Amino acid sequence: MGFKQEFIDKVTQASNLVEIISQYTTLKPSGRGHMGRCPFPDHQEKTASFSVSEFKGVYHCFGCKKSGNVVSFLRDFNGMNFREAIEYLAERNGIVITDDCYENNRPDQPLENKDHKKTLLHANKIAAEFFRESLKRQATDSPVRQYVLKRKLNPETLEEFQIGYAPNEWEALAGQLNRSSIPHAVSEEAQLLKRRKEGTGYFDLFRDRLMFPIHSPTGEVLAFGGRIIEQGEPKYLNSPETPVFHKGSVLYGLAQTAKHVRSEDLVLVVEGYMDLVSLYQAGIKNVVATMGTALTPDHAKLIKRLTNNVVVLFDGDDAGKMAAERSLPILLSQGLFPRGITLTEAKDPDEFVIKFGLDALKKEIEKAPDLFKVILKSWMTEYRGEASDKVKLVDKIKPVFDVMADQRLKSLYADDLCQIMGVNKDWLRNSFQGNAAGRSQGFGSFANANTQRNFVTETPTPVLAAASEAAKADENAQIKISDASKVELMLLQNTLKSRANFALMSDLQEPLTFTQLLSQIKHLGVRQILENAEQVYRQDAEKFDRLVSQLIDKIDKPELLFQNSKLDIAQIGEFDEEKEKKLIVDLISRIQQEFIKDQAKRLALDLKSNTTDAEMLRQFSELQKSRLALKGESKK
Ligand code: UTP
Ligand code: MN
Repeated sequence: MGFKQEFIDKVTQASNLVEIISQYTTLKPSGRGHMGRCPFPDHQEKTASFSVSEFKGVYHCFGCKKSGNVVSFLRDFNGMNFREAIEYLAERNGIVITDDCYENNRPDQPLENKDHKKTLLHANKIAAEFFRESLKRQATDSPVRQYVLKRKLNPETLEEFQIGYAPNEWEALAGQLNRSSIPHAVSEEAQLLKRRKEGTGYFDLFRDRLMFPIHSPTGEVLAFGGRIIEQGEPKYLNSPETPVFHKGSVLYGLAQTAKHVRSEDLVLVVEGYMDLVSLYQAGIKNVVATMGTALTPDHAKLIKRLTNNVVVLFDGDDAGKMAAERSLPILLSQGLFPRGITLTEAKDPDEFVIKFGLDALKKEIEKAPDLFKVILKSWMTEYRGEASDKVKLVDKIKPVFDVMADQRLKSLYADDLCQIMGVNKDWLRNSFQGNAAGRSQGFGSFANANTQRNFVTETPTPVLAAASEAAKADENAQIKISDASKVELMLLQNTLKSRANFALMSDLQEPLTFTQLLSQIKHLGVRQILENAEQVYRQDAEKFDRLVSQLIDKIDKPELLFQNSKLDIAQIGEFDEEKEKKLIVDLISRIQQEFIKDQAKRLALDLKSNTTDAEMLRQFSELQKSRLALKGESKK
């Protein structure tokens, strides 16, 4: 259930883009907007080339070419999805979200529920601050401080991840929560305190543990993982599930690492808290951790928001291998491109980076093969190429192929498989169609797959079922502009840039009106956008100013609205009216020329096959007229 467009507009318009970006970089007024150094971590610059236009609601970096609106900034920088971004902005601007802010009046969750969640998050926040303070208060020779030293965690890292310490007492946090007026029922539901069996009173769930708060992408504390100091059981105590914490849909570290994942366009997936923190500290910051569980479709979706490229870095033990194996279909079902590393000389990534250093790990990451190959290799350790081996192997692989979202990848993997297994493509294809173990119809005779009964496929495991479910859920429908021609993209960029520019096009008169021009635009997406822009322009010119900002969420490659345009769409710099006008007139005439050329080609073809057609002659004379009109236009 999504938000109403009206509500989205209200929230984004109330949001101050300059203020939000200023949390991460210093912006100074410049021309009609603001300039500063690019806040994205992959673009470290000394000069300011990042421009923000408050009035248009967009930003654009002239250096690294990143651009977007307030929602895409929150996505790229903080890893929020659309809904989270809108909720965050509404909250920031004191806009209350009521039932009728939603399409069809049906919010996903009742709103009372939301307030309830807030109270739990508030309790968690107080707990996190308490743990952090208590770690700082410990003497340097205390066991926990000594342990922190041993694990080589430096103060900046502790700060960044808000790592703390739960004192070795029964009612330390309980006292703090009391002083902060958090009701017992809330602390209990947040799984911070437990009720004593003997009736009265509550005690702390976490005692004498190094505490890792688990954050939401927005930075709220959802839960905790507490490591025992040195040895003991359980090694990590995690908050049980609560209304705000579902282990299977949270990735540890994302709040700190999302911007790095986005800018590196690659994510490393590790298993443990310490792996993530240790890699981050060593300088590999594009990491997330699954907290020891198998990767879920929800995890894959979180990743998909930020990048398509994944390197799975699970521990070398059996549990790690199993986790990597189970993650393969889930990642593929989301259309991600997973690669994988099996660590052999160290037990986990943390140990690896401490033992062999940053560069060694970076090298491993660079040369990591596709996860499919890694898993295949482990499935083939006892493979001798016997017919029965082939059948058994293909049965293992089939569920992975069934859920693969990218057909091109699927076909290439099939080619590889044929090679490695020594089978031909027909055999493989038939095996995958599910009739591999069908009743024999004679060797080599593969009848229509639909008529054959399928005896081979086992019922999918829950993980695979979930993956195939996830594969079906499609992305938000977007307008695809990435395959439009350069001229049409330039027309789009330059007319959307300002009301004045747009008017040059929308006010066109005979012999070429705006509607006629639209019909000559080849790309459906570009045409759709211009048509819609014209409506907005006519109805509400002020709204037009923010059109580019709104479009960013609706097109497949928003950067195309900014790229290869010499003129900055954020309109920070000077505005040369004559130059702009000339450019637009030129673009329009190039679109017409293209159109006429195409028409002529088509007519020539038709004429060849059919010489006496009245309709054809009529079209021909139309074409002549347009040609003359165009000549007249360009003389002006
Ligand atoms: P590991 O046992 O590999 O822990 O479990 P680790 O991260 O390497 O921890 P260190 O280096 O020994 O301190 C991987 C992850 O599995 C979850 C935790 O999220 C852990 O980080 N886990 C593990 C638990 O939740 N409970 C446990 O008892 C053990
Ligand atoms: Mn470890």
